[in-house]
Amino acid sequence: MKSVQFTSYGTPDVLTLTDVDTPTPGPGEIVIAVAGAGINQLDTKIRSGAMAQGAALASPSGTGFDAAGTVLETGSSVEDVHPGDLVFGIGRNTLAEQAILTQWALIPDGVDPVEAGAWGVAVETANRLLTELGIDAGTIVLSGASGGVGSALIQLARGRGLRVIGTASVKNHIYLESLGAVAVAYGGGLVERVKAVAPEGIAGALDLSGAGVISDLIELVGDPAKVISISDFTAPKLGARVSTGAARTTNPRDGFAEARSLSGFSLHIERRYTLAEAAAAQGRRDRSHRRQARRRSGVVPFHLWTAAAEARSADAATTARSRLSRGHETAWCRVRAVLTHRLSGNDYALSDREETAPAIPGEA
Ligand SMILES: NC(=O)c1ccc[n+]([C@@H]2O[C@H](COP(=O)([O-])OP(=O)(O)OC[C@H]3O[C@@H](n4cnc5c(N)ncnc54)[C@H](OP(=O)(O)O)[C@@H]3O)[C@@H](O)[C@H]2O)c1
Repeated sequence: MKSVQFTSYGTPDVLTLTDVDTPTPGPGEIVIAVAGAGINQLDTKIRSGAMAQGAALASPSGTGFDAAGTVLETGSSVEDVHPGDLVFGIGRNTLAEQAILTQWALIPDGVDPVEAGAWGVAVETANRLLTELGIDAGTIVLSGASGGVGSALIQLARGRGLRVIGTASVKNHIYLESLGAVAVAYGGGLVERVKAVAPEGIAGALDLSGAGVISDLIELVGDPAKVISISDFTAPKLGARVSTGAARTTNPRDGFAEARSLSGFSLHIERRYTLAEAAAAQGRRDRSHRRQARRRSGVVPFHLWTAAAEARSADAATTARSRLSRGHETAWCRVRAVLTHRLSGNDYALSDREETAPAIPGEA
């Protein structure tokens, strides 16, 4: 079967479509025929060698944690699914025609398995963050709410009865509002903007994008223990918490069940790539990450064409222009890569809202 592999760390070009043996499930694992496989930033960090601490790659590696598809085989002690069932979840080497899942749930009726291929990591993370935050009522703030984790979080939090204020670039505000959040721009003046839309006060805050906002979030909440980041590992210096999947504070299947329980739960799929285009898909994800880093350091200047990118909807354009003219920091584009594989044929797909936005000068 075909699998996306790499034999050395490096740029996305190290990824090649390779013939490998079909996987065999171990105890408590299943093998699926992959319908869709999301790309997460962790995939690109691993491929680049950023997680290897200078060591060379010992042997050829696959890539990918998210996937959905049809169960082909179950390992020992697996009793809740059977061959032919449609499932989504988290596994390993998922950018392949077949992959092992270690955590899964049935895809809800009516949900496209391609879309569900992007749910695993985002849903697990969202459920973990809400559980660790431990807030039952009131208003929470999400910094970086328009990405995959943020989109899942808004829906799970709304399902728990929480009011959600999310920060995003202006062009994503309508999207956040469609998910049930109140959208505000990030950048300077964040505390004042959030206070203006939340006179009731903020019960807790989650930093998803690592945009250097921990002190702002603590100021809004008033209690560092109610501020958690998944991307800013300096947060504990200010008394806030960091959450990682490695700590295993929650069961991923609880998160999957929570998403399944929400009628209409969805993650927006923006652009599709074929499996053979995995390098291009991860490359786009890499560029997105670099742009975010530059925004955080304040290097990226304001450009009018960002507003032009908003003009896909008249309402969005009006909102964007008015906000930009008020001098709010804006952002380039939300880039969320979701590599997917349709059930029929080997047609993979990547979601990416940046598709119609102008290229960034200096970026390939
Ligand atoms: N520790 C963990 O357990 C864990 C688990 C999953 C993910 N993560 C990490 O969490 C991060 C988010 O993951 P994701 O899958 O949601 O990524 P994603 O889909 O790429 O979304 C990232 C979001 O960050 C937003 N952003 C960029 N600059 C920002 C700024 N200055 N202020 C606020 N938001 C900003 C972007 O929003 P706009 O486009 O609207 O600007 C974008 O939607 C990644 O760094 C990932 O590696 C950690």
